[in-house]
This record gives sequence, C-alpha cells and structure tokens, in this order.
Amino acid sequence: MFKSDLFKSKKVLVTGGRSGIGYEISKSFLSHGAEVIIASRKEEALQVAAKKLTKYGTCHAKSCDIREPEAIEELAKMIQETLGGLDILINNAGGQFPAPANIIAQKGWAAVINNNLNGTFYMSQLISNKFFIPQKRGNIVNITANVSRGFPGMAHTGAARAGVENLTKSLGQEWARYHIRINAVAPGIIATSGLENYPSQMLEFLKDSEQKNLMKRFGTAEDVSNAVLFLSSPLANYISGVTIPVDGLEHLAGDRMELYNKIMSFTN
Ligand SMILES: NC(=O)c1ccc[n+]([C@@H]2O[C@H](COP(=O)([O-])OP(=O)(O)OC[C@H]3O[C@@H](n4cnc5c(N)ncnc54)[C@H](OP(=O)(O)O)[C@@H]3O)[C@@H](O)[C@H]2O)c1
Repeated sequence: MFKSDLFKSKKVLVTGGRSGIGYEISKSFLSHGAEVIIASRKEEALQVAAKKLTKYGTCHAKSCDIREPEAIEELAKMIQETLGGLDILINNAGGQFPAPANIIAQKGWAAVINNNLNGTFYMSQLISNKFFIPQKRGNIVNITANVSRGFPGMAHTGAARAGVENLTKSLGQEWARYHIRINAVAPGIIATSGLENYPSQMLEFLKDSEQKNLMKRFGTAEDVSNAVLFLSSPLANYISGVTIPVDGLEHLAGDRMELYNKIMSFTN
C-alpha cells in the first residue's frame, strides 16, 4: 500500500524482530527498501529469522538484551561498523505474564518493569546519543499495549506501557530540537506467536474476546506494522509524541475486568 521504495537507503533497528509483530515490522521495512537489523536475546532463533528475512532485503542480526546498557552499546558499535549509521528505531521487544496484582512477586514485577519500561528507555537514550542526536535526525516508534483504561490482570505491564507512552511525550518534546520524532503504537490483541506463551485456559478466554471485539476479529501483525511504517515515514513528518491504538476499538469498548475475572476464576 505504501510506495515500494518508501524506506530506500534507510537503516532500521527492530528489537524483538525475530518473532511475531517485530518480524512483520522487519519484513515490511525490508519490503519497502530499508536495510534492517533485528536484535533480541535468543541468538539461534535470531539467526534463523534473519536468514528468512533476507529474502525481502538486507537483514542483519545481533543478540542483545534490552535490559543491559552494555549490550546496547555493543549493538550500537556493530550497527556503526556494519550499517554505517541508523535512521529508525522500533522498540518492540517486551513481554509479560497474566497475574492478579496482589500476588505478583517483587521479582516478577521488577522483571516486567525492567523489560518493558527500562529497556525501552535504555535503548532510546543510547541509540539517540550514538546516532540520532549527533546527526540531528531520527525516528523512534515504541510498541506498547492497550493500557489507557488500566490493565487489570497485568498491572505490571499496564504500568510499564503507560510509562512508555508518557516517555514518548517527554522525549518527543525534549528531542524535537534534534529533529527526532517519537511515537507509539498500542496494539490490542494481536494474533502472534507471543500469545502461544499464555496458559491454555487463557487461550480459551482469548477466543471469546475475539468475538466480543466490535470488529469481530483479533488484530494482525500487519495491522500493527502498517501503523509503524506510517509513523516512521515522511507521511507523519508533523506527528510526534502520540500513541495510535491499533485495536479494533478495544481502548474504548469492552470489559477491561474480563481478563482479571478469568484469572481469578482459575486461581481461586
Ligand atoms: N500480541 C499481542 O497481542 C500484543 C498486544 C499488545 C502488546 N504486545 C507487545 O508487542 C511486542 C511484540 O509482541 P509479540 O506478540 O510479537 O510477542 P513475541 O513474539 O513474544 O515477541 C517478543 C519479542 O521480544 C523479544 N524480547 C523479549 N524480551 C527481550 C529483551 N529483554 N531483550 C531483547 N529482546 C527481548 C523476544 O525475543 P527473545 O526471546 O529472543 O529475546 C521476542 O522476539 C511485545 O512487546 C508485546 O508485549 C503484543
């Protein structure tokens, strides 16, 4: 739908690009002329994905845990040496687990906040200092979640993602002087491999939710990548600091307590 050379000669880093939404985003950038590097923790899976993605364009891979600033420094070094610079950062890596807030252990809470909030900040700060601020040009898109009415049943990720959406507003304002735009995309329930990590009872619940969505379907990874490509493109040149929900209206309609109630039904 976009011009096939929309991202010609652009260099793009996609965290979590080996699977699900990140894979589709990487594939879309490659199909529109970009050179892409995917980064996540699992080296072997990362290499397999990069090899598959190579049929759409030039794709590199480097293992990196977004929670570790030293690993991000290493990644930035490799990007400089291999790609010669960077134009676009997609902060897609993340994860969480369903649990009622009263039983989330401190370790679990810290892990989700560290991954989804701190990791996004470390990546944005280090990559901007290395590339975007010196070159006075850059573009960041953060993948968050449907958190605008809270996230009962996953309070940790709700808090972390709301933090990222606020960070999107702060960094958008602070870094406008460097011509860096920062936006976010908030997916609803998207049918990806990520959903397979949930327990089987949860999968039944998700099936139910699909019919309750006003558009009667889950989102696809392509729905998300279309919004990411738009925000990363010159079509969005006057847009920064915003979050676009890609959720078939879930941020407005639907019972936010359903997930929590479902979890409670099998923990009691
Ligand atoms: N699918 C949905 O319905 C949905 C809805 C809202 C938001 N989201 C969010 O959208 C993003 C993509 O989700 P998905 O559905 O595509 O799930 P996914 O397939 O599980 O993708 C998550 C990716 O993040 C990487 N990752 C996780 N922690 C990392 C870390 N500390 N450092 C580096 N990489 C890390 C994983 O790779 P490694 O294991 O190799 O590190 C994986 O490639 C996630 O942030 C997710 O929470 C998904």
